[in-house]
Amino acid sequence: MTDSLKPVRIALIGAGWIAAEHARALRRIPGARLTAIFDAVRDRAVQLAQTHETRAAESFEQAVELADMVWICSPPALHEPQITAALRAGREVFCEKPLTLSIASARTISQAAGASGRFVAVGHSNRYYPAYRKARDLFVEGALGAFVSVWSQRIGNYPREQFPPWRLDPAQSGGMTVEVGVHEIDFLLWVGGEIEMVFAQRACAVINPPDFDDSMSAVMKFRGGGFGRLDLSWASAVDISRRGILGDRAGLMVERDLTDVELCPLRGKAERIPATSPVDPVTKENLGIFWQAQDILQRRSEGRPPEVGVREGIRAIEVALAMQASARENRAVRLEEFVGSSC
Ligand SMILES: NC(=O)c1ccc[n+]([C@@H]2O[C@H](COP(=O)([O-])OP(=O)(O)OC[C@H]3O[C@@H](n4cnc5c(N)ncnc54)[C@H](O)[C@@H]3O)[C@@H](O)[C@H]2O)c1
Repeated sequence: MTDSLKPVRIALIGAGWIAAEHARALRRIPGARLTAIFDAVRDRAVQLAQTHETRAAESFEQAVELADMVWICSPPALHEPQITAALRAGREVFCEKPLTLSIASARTISQAAGASGRFVAVGHSNRYYPAYRKARDLFVEGALGAFVSVWSQRIGNYPREQFPPWRLDPAQSGGMTVEVGVHEIDFLLWVGGEIEMVFAQRACAVINPPDFDDSMSAVMKFRGGGFGRLDLSWASAVDISRRGILGDRAGLMVERDLTDVELCPLRGKAERIPATSPVDPVTKENLGIFWQAQDILQRRSEGRPPEVGVREGIRAIEVALAMQASARENRAVRLEEFVGSSC
C-alpha cells in the first residue's frame, strides 16, 4: 500500500517513550525518512538518533528546517506552540494526543491550520487497532440493531512512580481525563457521534490531591440518540480495560488484548470474531502506531484529509473539558458551553 508514498522528510519532536515507538514505525515505511530528532534533553535525542541512524537537531527550529513534516511527541502543553510554529514555517504536522489543553488554545490551532491549509493529523491511535475498527464496522453495518449505548472502561493501578513529572501536573498534561481520556472519548465519539451533554463525577484521592483527577466516571447523551459511559482511573486496585457497544438486537465487547470482538446477540449464540493483534509477536512493537503512521502518510501522499484531524482532536478535548467541569461543578454540562473552536 505504501509503495506509492510520496517521499517525506520527517522531524521528530520529543525523544521520550512514545517518540521511540513512532521512530520505529516511521523507519518501516518506504518513502518516509527520519531526518532529525529534537528533544529538550539533548542526550535523549542523541540516543534515539543513534538508534535510528539520523541526526539529533540542536534546536526545534533546526529540526523543522530539515523536514517536510513535523512529528510532535512532546508533552501536551507544548503541542500548540510547536504545531503553530511548524505551520508558520510551512510544514505539515502530526501531533500526539491530546491536541492541546484548552478551548482557547484549540482555537489558535484551528485558525493556524485553517489559514495554512496544511495537512495536520492527530494521534488518536485507538482507531488503528483492528479490534476497535471491527467493532465499529459491525455496529455501522447494522449487526447490533439500533444504537443503544457505547462504553469504555479503562481503570487500573498505573505505575505513577515511573511517570514523567509533567504527566502528574494538570497544567502540563491537562490531568488524566484530558491526557488519556481523549483516547476513550474519541472512541465514544467515533461510534456515537456528536455529544449533547455530559454528567461526570471525579476523585482526586491518590495522585496530587486535591487537584489531579485520578478517577473519573461520566455518562453522556448523544445528539442523535443513545448514550455513552466512561470509567477512567489511574488509581484503581481493580484493573479493567474493555470497550463495548450495545444495540437493540446485540451487544459487543472488546477486551484488553484486542485480539477479537465478542458479538453477543440477545437471542442466539455469542461468537468471537478474530482481529489482528496490535502487538508484533517477534519485536513486541505496538503495530497500532505503525498502522497509524502508514495511513497518515498515505493520505498525505494522496492529498486526502487525515482520519483524525484538528476537528476530531478538538472535539475530544471539548468533551474531556466538559467532563472535568461537570465533575468540578457537580452539574450536567451541555457541550455548547465548550464548543467555539470555529472548526
Ligand atoms: N498514542 C498513545 O498511545 C500515546 C502513548 C503515550 C503518550 N502519548 C502522548 O505522547 C506525548 C508524549 O508522551 P510520552 O509518554 O512520550 O512522554 P515522555 O515524557 O516520555 O516524552 C516526552 C519528551 O519530550 C521532551 N520534551 C520536553 N520539552 C520539550 C521541548 N520543548 N521540545 C522537544 N522535546 C521536549 C522530554 O524531554 C521527553 O523526552 C504526550 O502528549 C502523551 O499524551 C500518546
